[in-house]
Amino acid sequence: MVCLGNICRSPLAEGILASKLDPELYFIDSAGTSGHHNGELPDRRSIAIAREHGLNLTNQRSRKFVKEDFEDFDYIYVMDNSNYRDVVSLANSEEQKNKVDRIMNAVFPGENVDVPDPYYGGNDGFKHVYKMLDDACNIIVTKLS
Ligand code: 4NP
Repeated sequence: MVCLGNICRSPLAEGILASKLDPELYFIDSAGTSGHHNGELPDRRSIAIAREHGLNLTNQRSRKFVKEDFEDFDYIYVMDNSNYRDVVSLANSEEQKNKVDRIMNAVFPGENVDVPDPYYGGNDGFKHVYKMLDDACNIIVTKLS
């Protein structure tokens, strides 16, 4: 799961998807394209909305997306089109590029809908993002199994 800062959207996406899959079978992680928040906890608003849904994000720490992630992961879900461009620019083969997709394409195939960055907004933005990611993860899980 990849966003810009790895403190708002992708930590939520990681927590939501992890809660729906067997940890013995799937390794789920998240990262940011910027690296500006390296080592930080998720944003307190992401932690709060996750907690309302019974998920704990406080074991997560922000890290930057690195090229090795293309080797370590089968699927790379990005939150928006800007993340898509940044991640794909690091791919060194078509196979790596093909691992990357906008997460909302699970719900709206081919529409390239952005998960909006909630960082500068209020709590409603985080609520909205949670719902979008939960919908997407439900579909991702059905496709994996
Ligand atoms: P995220 O949100 O990409 O969903 O983690 C952001 C977090 C921080 C910043 C931008 C977006 N920032 O500019 O610091």
